Amino acid sequence: MKNKAIAILDANWRNGYSVPSKNLYPYQWLWDSGFIAIGFAHYDMDKAEKEIETLLDAQWENGFIPHIVFHQLSDSYFPGPNFHRADLHPLSNKKYPSTGMTQPPVTGFTIEKIYQISKDKKASLNFIKRTIDKVFKNHEYFYNNRDPRNEGLVYIYHNWESGTDNSPLWDSIFETMNPPVYTFERRDTSHVNPEERPTQREYDHYLHIIDIAKSHNYDDAKIAEHSPFLVQDPLFNAMLIKSNHALINMYELIGGNESKIEQLKSWNAKSIASFNSKLYNKELKAYVHYDLRNERPIKLVSSSSFSPLYAGIPTKEQAAELIETMQSKFGGDSMYLLASFDPTSEKFNPKKYWRGPVWINLNWILYYGLQDYGYKDLAQQIKFDSIEILDKVGFYEYFDARKSEYKADSKGYGGSDFSWSAALYLDLINN
Ligand code: DGY
Repeated sequence: MKNKAIAILDANWRNGYSVPSKNLYPYQWLWDSGFIAIGFAHYDMDKAEKEIETLLDAQWENGFIPHIVFHQLSDSYFPGPNFHRADLHPLSNKKYPSTGMTQPPVTGFTIEKIYQISKDKKASLNFIKRTIDKVFKNHEYFYNNRDPRNEGLVYIYHNWESGTDNSPLWDSIFETMNPPVYTFERRDTSHVNPEERPTQREYDHYLHIIDIAKSHNYDDAKIAEHSPFLVQDPLFNAMLIKSNHALINMYELIGGNESKIEQLKSWNAKSIASFNSKLYNKELKAYVHYDLRNERPIKLVSSSSFSPLYAGIPTKEQAAELIETMQSKFGGDSMYLLASFDPTSEKFNPKKYWRGPVWINLNWILYYGLQDYGYKDLAQQIKFDSIEILDKVGFYEYFDARKSEYKADSKGYGGSDFSWSAALYLDLINN
């Protein structure tokens, strides 16, 4: 299995960056790159560093990092650079075509993880020195442009920015919209069973939000005013807070940089306070998303609800409540940890992308989060479940949480030979 994981990563490497999955995702994706680099760090440090340096090379002048970097044209994916038109933004990157949206900010904790895994600390510290200010600038971009109420909680303006693309979380927002019917040719459904992908009508919503952002040349203030989708996402904000912590640790290691360390600490203090007062739902005993456009919490539990464990956000009491919710809704002998959406909800769909299947990156986040809070057994369980699933069916994109679905010839769902499943397997087995 270990050799197979390495073979997948090497096959998906494109001389400077990795594709998440051949054909289905033929470009460089932001959060994929972070997780992939962590896998590379276990056996090929040059690739780990290059993956991140290429991503940062696509950063915009204002610090923004796009969610897809279109390194070369490919007709196996829609929507491509000609739809996204990031060049409409005056500060967009001139070297690479990209999207005008971002993805969970994993880069900060990724560079720290690379350093931790490294056996040559001196060389890795040089890598940190080359990259850290760019990541800091990215965080500055978020707090200066994505937090219109100055709460320390940044918004996402598109479901693709969340990473949890078609989660039931977004259904109530889409109900407020009535996008035109687009004529376009989906490519994803020619690589993957349409039952496992978002619907055509859902894509109309996705494209419409992009068209609105484009009509404002991707101006953040105008997006905050006009986008029908505007959400404070606990997963996204937890990744930012975790990455702030990582940058503090790395700047302390480098020495100097006191004012940046102070800034990062003050962002985190404010973010964590707002996070716990605004995003924690006492009835559900879980963190929930907040719909800023329609001024209402989205009272649904998903794998994102537990991700604050990874960033040290919950108090001990909140952590205990989260575990209670996780075990009562997502656990039990017949289920692998952890479904991406509440299995007790009528919206749960065990095969459809982010509406229920298990994702290895969320499991990985929760494994470390549970360990940090002292839930060693549960951490082990989530790790062993991940490894068992991958051992049974291979390195797919996402997986059924129901143990009864696993037969001798079962497969996973979505793309095969999926980079971050392979990469994070390498990290999990090394722990
Ligand atoms: C897709 O095309 O499904 C991607 O997840 C968008 O980021």
